[in-house]
Amino acid sequence: MIHDLQNIKEQAAEALSKAADSKTLEALRVKYLGKKGELTAILKQMGKLSAEERPKVGQLANEVRAGIEQMIEERSAAIKQAVLDARLQAERVDVTMPGKAAPIGKAHPLTKVLDEVKEIFLGMGFSISEGPEVETDYYNFEALNIPKNHPARDTQDTFYISDNVLLRTQTSPVQVRTMEKQKPPIRVISPGRVYRSDAVDATHSPLFHQIEGLVVDKGVTMADLKGTLELFVKRLYGDESVVRFRPHHFPFTEPSAELDVQCFACHGEGCRLCKGEGWIEVLGCGMVHPKVLSICGIDPEVYSGFAFGIGLERIVMRRYNIDDLRLFYENDLRFLDQF
Ligand code: DAH
Repeated sequence: MIHDLQNIKEQAAEALSKAADSKTLEALRVKYLGKKGELTAILKQMGKLSAEERPKVGQLANEVRAGIEQMIEERSAAIKQAVLDARLQAERVDVTMPGKAAPIGKAHPLTKVLDEVKEIFLGMGFSISEGPEVETDYYNFEALNIPKNHPARDTQDTFYISDNVLLRTQTSPVQVRTMEKQKPPIRVISPGRVYRSDAVDATHSPLFHQIEGLVVDKGVTMADLKGTLELFVKRLYGDESVVRFRPHHFPFTEPSAELDVQCFACHGEGCRLCKGEGWIEVLGCGMVHPKVLSICGIDPEVYSGFAFGIGLERIVMRRYNIDDLRLFYENDLRFLDQF
């Protein structure tokens, strides 16, 4: 029996030293120390021993049990430590590593400049009024003094949806809608998308943006138009900007003009930027045609007004020196990231 007990101790020591996890360890505890375990099995046979052998064997059995218990305890502690070490290793964070940069979106250059334009006009007491992109022939042409067969229709290649419904070719129809529902004094700008059936190239796109402006009140004159638009250009391009008004024709204004700003690059000499002109066109404008006022229910004997239409892409291109309109619509981050 003494021999058996020593055997058990050796076997247990050997098995325990190999136990790599707590499950195996628990199985070994049951195997050696459990109620049906090997040590218990031997102790059950103690009755067969003589009175003098019994205490000796009993003492040894107790030592073996205590020894195995201690080994289990040590092994258990070692396993717990190993598990913890492995976890710490796996979850290790290198605090010196650079973080992952989260890409942050930015406003599109068209939006940025539009916001500036809005800010300038809001500062002059204008408010913002928008209209539909799908328009009727009446608002886009007829009410603006552009009857059927008028040559102005040819210059605005229109996307028709049906005979009378179209994608607006200009933001000017918002003038009509505004005058129909609002009595003077009126001071609004109307930014928005417009559509023309143009082939895409560096300066043309079937979709682009305009900002319409309209002022109607008693006693509004061409001097108000000039003062307002000159101030706008100076706010947008800087106080040193030089502007000129050049006579032009639009069916819905009389008289009509185009506003040019002197080329920033050559100061009027003529260069590549201004295509040798010395001046760069910024917008179309004029005194609202009395016919248009009448059509909209405003008495031209009492009220007068001025209107203007700014091409947004154009002023943004000038602002940032962009020479190809297509860049605005391609959503190439290498381009958009620069603003
Ligand atoms: N609607 C014109 C265009 O698309 C631009 C324009 C010119 C608007 C003169 C106006 C204006 O309000 O008075 O070419």
